[in-house]
Amino acid sequence: MEATAPRRPLVRLENVSKHFGEGEARVDALRGVGLAVHPGEVVGLLGPSGSGKTTLLNVIGCILEPSGGRITLDGETVYDGRWLRADLRRLRLEKIGFIFQFHNLLPFLDSTDNVAVVLDLAGFGAGEARRRAVELLEYLEVGHRRYAFPASLSGGEAQRVAIARALANRPRIILADEPTAALDSARAAVVMDLLRRLAAEQQTAILAVTHDEKIYDRFDRIFHLRDGLLEQEQVMTHPRRKP
Ligand SMILES: Nc1ncnc2c1ncn2[C@@H]1O[C@H](COP(=O)(O)OP(=O)(O)OP(=O)(O)O)[C@@H](O)[C@H]1O
Ligand SMILES: [Mg+2]
Repeated sequence: MEATAPRRPLVRLENVSKHFGEGEARVDALRGVGLAVHPGEVVGLLGPSGSGKTTLLNVIGCILEPSGGRITLDGETVYDGRWLRADLRRLRLEKIGFIFQFHNLLPFLDSTDNVAVVLDLAGFGAGEARRRAVELLEYLEVGHRRYAFPASLSGGEAQRVAIARALANRPRIILADEPTAALDSARAAVVMDLLRRLAAEQQTAILAVTHDEKIYDRFDRIFHLRDGLLEQEQVMTHPRRKP
């Protein structure tokens, strides 16, 4: 591997395919997809409904087994025609943070515990888990809502708690499926700016599906998917915004 290269990608896909079903019912959701995302990059993923965006995120996130190709995450080849790691749960916990369109917070836990559950899984003691959870909530500017339950949070607050949860295990790779779809444009901009700051400060790679034209200028690069093919990559020419 290019272990000494300074800009080794955090996510590298080579010729990745995924189909569902067989014969007449076969759907080719991903066809020979190749891409690389580097530390500090915020990359957008666009494409019509059914073009394979969610499938692509799930394959990168090791939630869904590809049908072929190679996937390398943070220098480790995790899939090469088959999974190379037996413990995919552990792999996800080590490397990946997920953010969904709807926050998926647990309704019976307050903001702090919603974040701390991930730290429990990662083996932190209860006190340390809550302390670090509060730190993350503060980083995402929702520290003042740390005792609030999901039902009493605004959409933007809930999404920031969900992002704090996605960050809890310090993943280098963040995968987000329409993270701002449920938010108005002002709150969507706040969430995107937080993600940009995160990418810059912690050198994470962020890959986010979006339909929201108002936030296109928050991406460093944009990929387009069509019928499972990664068609074009639009390099954003804007000067990098200050978070
Ligand atoms: N579990 C599954 N079984 C069968 N077909 C599936 C499955 N998941 C996805 N597909 C099909 O694969 C294709 C890609 O689906 P995917 O969910 O990745 O699209 P998408 O780009 O995320 O769409 P949207 O914008 O509507 O969320 C679609 O044709 C879909 O019907
Ligand atoms: Mg989708």
